[in-house]
Amino acid sequence: MAILITGGCGYIGSHTCIELLKAGQEIVVLDNYDNAKPEALRRVQELAGKTFPFYECDIRDEEGLRRLFAAHTIDAVIHFAGLKAVGESVQKPLAYYDNNVSGTVTLCRVMAEAGCKRIVFSSSATVYGMSNPSPLKEDMPTGAVTNPYGRTKYIIEEILKDVCVSDPEWTAVLLRYFNPIGAHESGRIGEDPNGIPNNLMPYISQVAIGRLERLAVFGDDYDTPDGTGVRDYIHVVDLAAGHVKAVDYALSHTGVEIFNLGTGTGCSVLELVNAFQEANGVEVPYTVAPRRAGDIATCYSDPAKAEKLLGWKAVRHVVDMCRDSWRWQSQNPNGYED
Ligand code: NAD
Ligand code: UFG
Repeated sequence: MAILITGGCGYIGSHTCIELLKAGQEIVVLDNYDNAKPEALRRVQELAGKTFPFYECDIRDEEGLRRLFAAHTIDAVIHFAGLKAVGESVQKPLAYYDNNVSGTVTLCRVMAEAGCKRIVFSSSATVYGMSNPSPLKEDMPTGAVTNPYGRTKYIIEEILKDVCVSDPEWTAVLLRYFNPIGAHESGRIGEDPNGIPNNLMPYISQVAIGRLERLAVFGDDYDTPDGTGVRDYIHVVDLAAGHVKAVDYALSHTGVEIFNLGTGTGCSVLELVNAFQEANGVEVPYTVAPRRAGDIATCYSDPAKAEKLLGWKAVRHVVDMCRDSWRWQSQNPNGYED
């Protein structure tokens, strides 16, 4: 009995591996290293004090997946593998549809062949689109997404719903993440983006360490308390713990269930910058720049359903997220290359 983690070398996957191992689960990890380094898993094994099988394999490689499923009894899959850069998805839509959508179809086909019909999928708050008001609830309309990346998440959600309708033995737990930040409290694993970060927290950390000169705050004229964008930042270790609960749920239910994984609390760009400076005693110089295309003013979750049905809620605060992000960044100024 084991849980397969696709994309398990990545940012959220690596933290989830640790939480699963801590909870006593056996895991098998698969990743094609598209956006990850082997060092991440080496450190996961070091932190957990346990080893596990790893496959360097692409989710679109049907034969590779078959070999994995033939070698292990997999009870459920947590499916993180995917491309996730919004801007890149606008430039390379076919790469995103191929990797994310075709890859998921191939994975599900091989899972069904092997008799493994339980999947926990990494979806995103982006499926709620631009027009739903926060707090966002799972039953609000989805699909009015603004970029190919978000559309792949919406399409995969719909595919997994169809699969569950077609065969009552299937279970799909769709997890809509809000904004994961922070790192394992050891400072040994964290987010290691390639090139210049797109997301706020890795940008702040790289300014603080001196790799980047200053943060551009994308707009201070939104209809929010301080004019800057408001998001629901969630500590990656809380998010990882949510997957342990979600996989338990998948093992004991059938059909589709959707959960927001967020804190339920909004935090603005300037609040996060200030929290980071105060928590860590470092400077984060910034300038106000024009709004970024496609951004919305406010996005935060109603996390009540996850608390009620999964027995999960986020317990870490923005100050913990800032401290842990900085511990990872300052101990590993060049990410896993150090
Ligand atoms: P990540 O890039 O760190 O992890 C994804 C992992 O998948 C990487 O290790 C990559 O090498 C691997 N991968 C990509 N394509 C693959 C393929 N075809 N075959 C095998 N492995 C492949 O990203 P993350 O932040 O850990 O995100 C994990 C999942 O959560 C993604 O599906 C992402 O879209 C989703 N998500 C992330 C966020 C976020 O803000 N980080 C928000 C919402 C949803
Ligand atoms: N921001 C800046 N400067 C930066 C980067 C971001 O001011 O250099 C601002 C943005 O305008 C936004 C906030 O910081 O107001 C957060 O931006 P992120 O890029 O960190 O996160 P987003 O909310 O835009 O997007 C994230 C993920 C998407 C996912 C979405 C919804 O990157 O994949 O959350 O869950 F779809």
